[in-house]
Amino acid sequence: MKIASISENKNVEKRVAITPDTTKKYLSEGFEVLISKNYGDHLGFSDNEYKELGANIINDENKIIQDSDILVQLGLPSDEKLKSLKDNQNLIGVLNPFSNKEKINNLIKKKVKNFSLELLPRITRAQSMDVLSSQANLAGYKAVIEAFSNFEKAIPMMMTAAGTVPAAKVLIVGAGVAGLQAIATAKRMGAIVFATDVRLASKEQVESLGGKFLTVEGSENLETEGGYAKETSEEFKKKQEMLLADTLKKIDIVICTALIPGKKAPIIIKEEMIKNMQSGSVIYDLAAIQGGNSELTKVDEVIINEGVKIMGESNILNKLPTSASNLYAKNMYNFVMNLYDKKNKKININLEDEIIEKTLLK
Ligand code: NAI
Repeated sequence: MKIASISENKNVEKRVAITPDTTKKYLSEGFEVLISKNYGDHLGFSDNEYKELGANIINDENKIIQDSDILVQLGLPSDEKLKSLKDNQNLIGVLNPFSNKEKINNLIKKKVKNFSLELLPRITRAQSMDVLSSQANLAGYKAVIEAFSNFEKAIPMMMTAAGTVPAAKVLIVGAGVAGLQAIATAKRMGAIVFATDVRLASKEQVESLGGKFLTVEGSENLETEGGYAKETSEEFKKKQEMLLADTLKKIDIVICTALIPGKKAPIIIKEEMIKNMQSGSVIYDLAAIQGGNSELTKVDEVIINEGVKIMGESNILNKLPTSASNLYAKNMYNFVMNLYDKKNKKININLEDEIIEKTLLK
């Protein structure tokens, strides 16, 4: 069994899908590991390190793809590279089937088996493979660090002989995986933390981390069976707007994380609300890549609107790519092991396994 990975476009993606640690694991299962030259150099994972462990470093990426049984990546490889994939090869990554429909349909026509890990069911057995959770957790942490370092006041309350510095007030919009980590990080640094979500189940989780949950008055629970948020009604949006417009006047930092799978992110922080925020406040929008939760967010730009800084990046994980790769590569290894039939030494696409059935693109 040959598992392979080619270099991502390092200008936009610094994470890798096979680390030295998972190279060892694959080799101990009897796999061969093939990677591109300089694959993990930028993370301090040198070709020599991979080579000494037993991986094959290969110059020609099309050859790597042609020789592999399983190609593991972050995103979908370039069109030119996809041409090298042939029938019954397996491609695993975060393939974004909603935006890459045509390319994926072409792969399916060629009988390539494509697995997209963002479609994993949120079930206990899939936790060790759950890339959305492992990456969102790091993103939530880093968004707080970025927002705090752009905020020009102190975060914790400080009582000094020269006077008292008040604690910063932080609002987390969306209390899923990223939001909960953002709450924990902001609390640890001494902020006063508020959070809101459309899923009422998140109230208890927010409170257990020491955050204050802001409930939209009269809201029903907008949670799907899979644990995700549903789109909100116009009436709910109005009520949420009223609650947040008032709250935001007192908030110093907002971390936005609200997403609806496969859809544009809901706009929650309107321009009018931003106008009413105190000058010097910071909004970090983790939903930027899906359009943003704030009306003024522009991906990879810092907008200053009447003294309020609004930021959001296309890939915040590029700011901690080593930690992100270590977790992603382990998620990937666990997913591959679930596909692999050890006894017969082959990939077994068992559609009765919910993890395989839900991630296989059809
Ligand atoms: P996500 O990234 O899709 O969304 C982030 C958060 O934004 C969610 O909590 C969502 O409810 C919230 N949101 C969406 N629209 C909103 C709006 N208009 N206003 C306010 N908040 C809004 O979600 P994530 O973080 O991937 O988590 C999804 C679910 O999966 C959660 O219930 C989480 O607890 C669950 N989960 C379960 C796991 C398991 O193994 N059982 C593992 C990981 C997550």
